[in-house]
Amino acid sequence: MRKYSEQELIAFGLVPDRIPKHIAIVMDGNGRWATAKGLPRPAGHRAGVSAVKEIIRFTSDIGVESLTLYAFSTENRKRPKEEVGLLCGLLIESVNREIDELHANNVCIKSIGDLSWFPTAVQETVRAAEEKTKNNTGLKVNVALNYGGRAELVRAMRLAFAESEDADESAIAKHLYTARSGDVDLLIRTGGEARISNFLLWQIAYAELYFTDVMWPDFTREELIKALKNFAGRDRRFGGLNANGAK
Ligand code: IPE
Ligand code: IPE
Ligand code: MG
Repeated sequence: MRKYSEQELIAFGLVPDRIPKHIAIVMDGNGRWATAKGLPRPAGHRAGVSAVKEIIRFTSDIGVESLTLYAFSTENRKRPKEEVGLLCGLLIESVNREIDELHANNVCIKSIGDLSWFPTAVQETVRAAEEKTKNNTGLKVNVALNYGGRAELVRAMRLAFAESEDADESAIAKHLYTARSGDVDLLIRTGGEARISNFLLWQIAYAELYFTDVMWPDFTREELIKALKNFAGRDRRFGGLNANGAK
């Protein structure tokens, strides 16, 4: 539920009828943020959690419908087991600490990806958070955990074609992990790289892309406002003609 009035949104510099319904974020740069400060990588991941908290809160308050966050990719399984273990521990700790407030804010949490790869304690924590918030009607937060876009597409296509050999685009879209959220309107990547890294390959077909050099732990609500202002100025043609061209 949107907390701010139209006047308040305008005061932030936002355009009320040009707020994306579905934002996806590749939250990259935690490690480099820490290294640049002479800190160990885990300190970057910890700081990254604070950024997640601030961005969930603000997107909820401005009335975004869905927020899909890339937290751990299928490729991230290649990282040293110490780092993977630390990320698992941080996930459990953060969800347990924040779940009551998220629930109070009417946020509905869902994980996307293959959760079964994680230790049981991670699976249980995530499932409990999903269960607790499942009837909430506010911001839909999709957390990508052991997620890969290609794996998601293989799964969705198998399911769709098992139902019908004539499965069309909408039949496949129905079986994506993010089916409830639809296509992505704005994809943000922090951390300076301009690549997709196997995230939401289907859902970003017509997304507006926004790349920033800001490292994820420094991605404050002011940084999100910059991205949203930039988005508001884009001319989304979806292959058609813009308003002038159509005249
Ligand atoms: C993103 O930060 C978080 C995860 C992938 C879990 P990184 O850990 O990739 O940070 P950099 O890219 O090494 O700085
Ligand atoms: C993408 O970041 C995955 C997440 C943010 C979870 P990476 O750091 O894994 O991406 P690459 O390896 O630079 O492409
Ligand atoms: Mg990275």
